[in-house]
Amino acid sequence: MKQVYCDNGSTSFPKTPGLGEAVGRHIDLNGFNISRGGYGKAYSLEAEIIEAREQICRLLGWDDPKGVVFTPGATMGLNMVLKGVLKKGDHVITTSMEHNAVVRPLTQLEEQGVEWSEAPCDVKGQLEAEAVEGLIRENTKLVLTTHGSNVCGTLIPLEEIGKLCRKHGVMFAADAAQTAGSAVIDMKRYGLDAVVFPGHKGLMGPQGVGGMVLSDRIAREMDPVFSGGTGSASDKEEMPSFLPDKFQPGTLNIPGIIGLKHSLGFIDAEGLEGIMEKKRYITDMFLQDVCNMKGVKLAGLPEADGRCAVVSLVFLDMDNAEAAYLLESEYGIMTRCGLHCAPHAHKTLGTFPEGTVRFSFGYFNTPDEIRYVVDALKDIAAR
Ligand SMILES: Cc1ncc(COP(=O)(O)O)c(C=O)c1O
Repeated sequence: MKQVYCDNGSTSFPKTPGLGEAVGRHIDLNGFNISRGGYGKAYSLEAEIIEAREQICRLLGWDDPKGVVFTPGATMGLNMVLKGVLKKGDHVITTSMEHNAVVRPLTQLEEQGVEWSEAPCDVKGQLEAEAVEGLIRENTKLVLTTHGSNVCGTLIPLEEIGKLCRKHGVMFAADAAQTAGSAVIDMKRYGLDAVVFPGHKGLMGPQGVGGMVLSDRIAREMDPVFSGGTGSASDKEEMPSFLPDKFQPGTLNIPGIIGLKHSLGFIDAEGLEGIMEKKRYITDMFLQDVCNMKGVKLAGLPEADGRCAVVSLVFLDMDNAEAAYLLESEYGIMTRCGLHCAPHAHKTLGTFPEGTVRFSFGYFNTPDEIRYVVDALKDIAAR
């Protein structure tokens, strides 16, 4: 049976051409450590890691590679920002579209006396920047928002929110889990103090690696959640105060970073604009067909503007889980159904607790695959 992968919001597949070979070559021929060895191979490997930081800066509109801190993924980065910045009595603003990678750390922090407000998004997941401004208080320390919804793809207007944060002197962070490598992110222009990203979704790298890019301001305000050896300032019992070491104790996932570097090279060669255009094209194709399809209802925006390549459908005459099962068992179409770790987003979209069937497209999906998925949906929805 034909196989069509439509779960790129969970992780990209396939990965960039040659990724496995690049990681394997590194492990087999160059699997040394960095910052912990006084020999040439350790230094040249360190130079490769610095190159990866530079690639990330170019992609995310930042100019200081030291501000790039590698983490095991977006979840760890979000925990590090939230738990590093917010102390008892501080106030934080998020949106009503956040993933549990934000909701759960904040639920823990609320128990420790952190105050938290959610700016309400509309039923399509859209947010007016002014809704954030209205929530800013004397003790507001941070605004953290998802950039693209992992449920319905709607984008949050980072640039407008960034302007308001600057006006009020509040720090601003974005969860770019669904948009790094899939949308323009310009940290400086958007006034962002932190962008948190996974390496395995839009960046098409391996799982287990991601990172955050930090401004000097937020880096100063953040306490390190994890501490340990950094190979630097080893005479001190406290973590170094400089970047990236302040937030990067322990041996890094170097094979993961080497893989991410390979994938970033691919993105650079293909061009972000071209990647975005291709995803936009297939998302638009899909939306045009599903918007008026009998038996399904779209959650979120009906057009390709203002969104990323994540589309959620509700099946009207059939359980969503049954539809997802039929899609895979009869047509080889891989999707994800349920709440996608984002119950607050589903409450906003009116799809809680049933959830949706999510189709999330990647750079390697083709128009032929989209036509195949649409035909399968027509068959299933007509039953
Ligand atoms: C919006 C959003 N934030 C955070 C995450 C967590 O990313 P990771 O699983 O790579 O840590 C995800 C993953 O699906 C996501 O979609």
